[in-house]
Amino acid sequence: MARLNLPEATRFEKVPVSIYVDQETASLAVANRIADLIRDRQANDRQAVLGLATGATPIRVYEELVRLHREEGLSFRNVVTFNLDEYYPMQPDAAQSYVAFMNAKLFDHVDIDRDNIHIPDGTIPVEDIHEYCRTYEQKIVAHGGIDLQLLGIGRTGHIGFNEPGSAPDSETRLVTLNDVTRSDAARDFGGKENVPTQAITMGIGTIFKARVIILMAWSAKKAEIVKKAVEGEMSAEVPATFLQLSDNVEFVLDQDAATALTRFDNP
Ligand code: GLP
Repeated sequence: MARLNLPEATRFEKVPVSIYVDQETASLAVANRIADLIRDRQANDRQAVLGLATGATPIRVYEELVRLHREEGLSFRNVVTFNLDEYYPMQPDAAQSYVAFMNAKLFDHVDIDRDNIHIPDGTIPVEDIHEYCRTYEQKIVAHGGIDLQLLGIGRTGHIGFNEPGSAPDSETRLVTLNDVTRSDAARDFGGKENVPTQAITMGIGTIFKARVIILMAWSAKKAEIVKKAVEGEMSAEVPATFLQLSDNVEFVLDQDAATALTRFDNP
């Protein structure tokens, strides 16, 4: 595949896009950026505030961060994390919870202070969710805002669990999951009927406030939705298109996820 980076070739792209030869190379590059941020803040006696995502996409990034901790002494003592989302309802000790995911992939293997970890709580009584979500937003602000937000992208174009219809200024809230999203999660839950119908997610407005936003996507499965997000008209139908409004966003793709972009798809 030709690697076209000429302005003419990328003129349909409404966000900065970095394309790596494969997921491995891309993941290591993202992990190194996170490590640099953490070390830079350490040198200045400051915290690094990370917005974290779940799903298959960031797993290799987390593995590399764990390796950097184990083998190269990268400490997470100054790291504060806010996860994007959690199913609702969800017990934190359930195998499918994003709490279990984050513990298994990252938190159990590094020296982060447990008090610095924030993941939306899937056990909050429904009548308290509104207040809980306001507090989640306030905690992000109290920590000085998110320095670097990791994102994946769902097949519906969702970021976090901001499904089609989400507003660009939306905040942390309870949402209803799209049918496609629940189908995609069916395997983890042993059938779609077991997938919760709701979730608590940071809003698109919450994500926007991050100082750096990195959306990662790998494989041909994501190529069509990536094209819509990068080149499509901005619309609530594809929530990731709202990232076109941000000056701080970068899409990090492997070659397969980039194949539908006009610069490659145009013979
Ligand atoms: C879930 C998560 C999203 C994630 C998306 C894509 O819906 N809530 O944050 O980006 O799945 O998942 P994957 O990375 O497995 O493709």
